[in-house]
Amino acid sequence: MNFKRSDFPDGFLFGAATAAYQIEGHQFGGAGPTHWDTFAATPGNVVRAENGALACDHYHRFAEDLDLLRDAGMDAYRFSTSWARVMPDGRTVNTQGLDFYDRLVDAMLERGLKPFQTLYHWELPSALADKGGWTNRDTCTAFADFIDVITDRIGDRVHAIATINEPWCVAYLAHFLGHHAPGLRDIRATARAMHHINVAHGMAMTRLRAKGMQNCGVVLNFDHTAPLDNSIGAAKAVATWDAIMNRWFIEAIAKGTYPAPALDGFAAHMPAGWQNDMAEISQKIDFLGVNYYTRHQVMTDDTQPWPHLASREGPGPKTQMGWEIYPDGLQSFLTRLADDYVGDLPLFVTENGMAWDDHVENGAVYDPERTAFVSDHIHATQRAIAAGANVQGFFYWSLLDNYEWAFGYEKRFGMVHVDFDTLKRTPKASYHAFKSAIAR
Ligand code: FCB
Repeated sequence: MNFKRSDFPDGFLFGAATAAYQIEGHQFGGAGPTHWDTFAATPGNVVRAENGALACDHYHRFAEDLDLLRDAGMDAYRFSTSWARVMPDGRTVNTQGLDFYDRLVDAMLERGLKPFQTLYHWELPSALADKGGWTNRDTCTAFADFIDVITDRIGDRVHAIATINEPWCVAYLAHFLGHHAPGLRDIRATARAMHHINVAHGMAMTRLRAKGMQNCGVVLNFDHTAPLDNSIGAAKAVATWDAIMNRWFIEAIAKGTYPAPALDGFAAHMPAGWQNDMAEISQKIDFLGVNYYTRHQVMTDDTQPWPHLASREGPGPKTQMGWEIYPDGLQSFLTRLADDYVGDLPLFVTENGMAWDDHVENGAVYDPERTAFVSDHIHATQRAIAAGANVQGFFYWSLLDNYEWAFGYEKRFGMVHVDFDTLKRTPKASYHAFKSAIAR
């Protein structure tokens, strides 16, 4: 990789990210069923109907996985604590689950890794999904209660805490587009989830502050949105899509408002009195996590109901996901977020990475595409820092090949290859390249 640690400000953190359901194996340790298990068990939702029952068996192999982070010279590890593992029915404590995260955090500290915890990375307990999941405001209170429990156990040792991972995916992708659990396609459910996930973030912040926790924030995903052509229709589509995808959450959190082009469609379906929640939602955070992968081109499609949109991947080279590789989008979001929303607040690139159809040959994985991808996005991050954005760290998604949600185990994002028959880990060439680049 053509960058080095010394190119970055002192204290800049390099790390990798994962999420509980995608790696741990949810059949172990008394974890409860989640809406992803039922989503996967319904034909047509997930490639080969795969689920997270075994995943990478990280539940048993976490020591080996944390060794890989340490041996690469990483500073930090972004992981998530599964609500359904800690509270199998969303409300009752499973001590084995707490014990697991206790061991996990201690094992990070023993290896000199700063634990960056995420509280919700999508494994909603089925018992709460039965009651309407994120369309039901009670889910927010149950989430806040979970936070009390997990924070009482490991809050003394984690370095940073993010409340929600990618609220846009939790709400829009899962309730409007139907691509993620619970797989709804319903505008009213979407409007409620779009607001309730912010309420959950706000309540989480309140509970964390009540416990005196510092370094608390949220992780949002951003998608570079470009007009398909020079038409007025394309410009209008950009304004609408940017509001739904890129502005809704950060504007609520940084300013306590929702953007008008998104409210145009959602207002009629919002829960009564939503305005009264905006103060709690917009309380101070300590950092913002930025997840960035790709760019889309959009245009107006008046044959469709609101948001009257058609969208497609940009024209550049694509990853195994079919996602366009567009590093300038990362620079532009980091700069835009600093300029328009958060000023000098610390920013972390909490996810950036690519899937590729990697294979082990002679005991090694040759993935120059990933090495180039990471270098290009690291350079984009450096340009944003040079332009004044206070970026303090970069986490590669992901440490391991893992359960890529609706794509099952087919899409390989890891810097470490996982053979899903034997569960053997093989660091890819990009892992070795990253290790050399970040060496002290
Ligand atoms: C993000 C998710 C993460 C992973 C990557 C590829 O949207 O946060 O779990 O699936 O995409």
